[in-house]
Amino acid sequence: MSIKLSEGVYWVGIFDWKLRIFHGIATPKGGTYNSYLIKDGEAAIIDAVYEPFFDEYIGNLSTLVDPTKVRYLIVNHAEPDHSSSIKSLVSLNNEINIVCTARCKEFLEKMGVQGKFIVVKEGDTLKVGSKTLRFIEAPMLHWPEVMWTFLEGERILFPCDVFGAQVVESTMRAEVVGDIEAHAKRYYAFIFRPLVAAVLKGLDKVEGLAPAMICPSHGPVWRDVARIQRLWREWSTKPEGDKVLIIYSSIWGDVDKMARAIADGVQSTGAQVVIREVGDLSWSGWADLLADAMESKAIALGSLTVLGGIFPQLLYATMLLRLVKAKKIGLSFGAYGWGPGVTKKLDEELKAIEAMPYREGIEVRFTPTERDLQLCREAGRELGERVKGVS
Ligand code: FEO
Repeated sequence: MSIKLSEGVYWVGIFDWKLRIFHGIATPKGGTYNSYLIKDGEAAIIDAVYEPFFDEYIGNLSTLVDPTKVRYLIVNHAEPDHSSSIKSLVSLNNEINIVCTARCKEFLEKMGVQGKFIVVKEGDTLKVGSKTLRFIEAPMLHWPEVMWTFLEGERILFPCDVFGAQVVESTMRAEVVGDIEAHAKRYYAFIFRPLVAAVLKGLDKVEGLAPAMICPSHGPVWRDVARIQRLWREWSTKPEGDKVLIIYSSIWGDVDKMARAIADGVQSTGAQVVIREVGDLSWSGWADLLADAMESKAIALGSLTVLGGIFPQLLYATMLLRLVKAKKIGLSFGAYGWGPGVTKKLDEELKAIEAMPYREGIEVRFTPTERDLQLCREAGRELGERVKGVS
């Protein structure tokens, strides 16, 4: 299978329809490992695929070109979802030239890749028939060795992981995926929000290139290039709305009641509220949790008490949130049976993610009374008013 994108430019990647989790991101509609073929007399491949799909990949390539005759393999990124099949490809075609940055060559060699390398740097070009490919260094997007490839003339950008989304669309057209922004957002939040400084530099580079088409390494191709650039700019600069995220763990429902009372209070102010219960490490919503955090001006963190401390699964959530620190308002709440103090520990977690507690935590013994729940509602209302007042 292959898809023509432009004259002499084809998608020859893999649709992994069964993929449900990628890097911790829920992928309810599968995911893709994109590889592109540039063909104009001679042939070049941009990025390879994940090794378990190698046979299918060679089948896709073979619909357009003899894989043993491909002259160049351009490696934008050494992560195994794009590089683990390179050894098999070189076994099939030991004349292929592996084009990559010096750092990428180092990474690939450490991964056991041997072959003919052509090391390139910012601004270098490569002719494939009459087509010219230009290389752009893009460190930390997603790893330090990353580069992008730009097809001059057609103005097609191949930015590897950047602008990706993990979703299968058989036409490879981003614009026909109704919920494309949700897929793109959870992918951005989990993989790129922690690298926001590098992302902003990258976005400036993309504006300078003014691409007509963007072909990422995951998910469909963007022809509406302004839309995906606008979304990434927004998520990287000012993603917050008048929104409160409530994250909590509960076993017997007591903290759950408190969370809902806080949510009622937030809702009464007209601010948006999202409740996420964290109780199971196999939960597939971690990337959505990061996206919610990115969009919130306040985080309320609640836990039952386990052996004098915070429920361990909730600590996984705060470890993730440390990756996407942004100044927010914080509120802790929790329940205990034998000894108090869990909200003090939650406050430390809130400070570590830069969600500064605006008041003392709300703590109840065993089950919240109606008075406790009223206190939660009042705190929620205050939180809602505060986020609405924060510009
Ligand atoms: Fe798709 Fe960073 O690899």
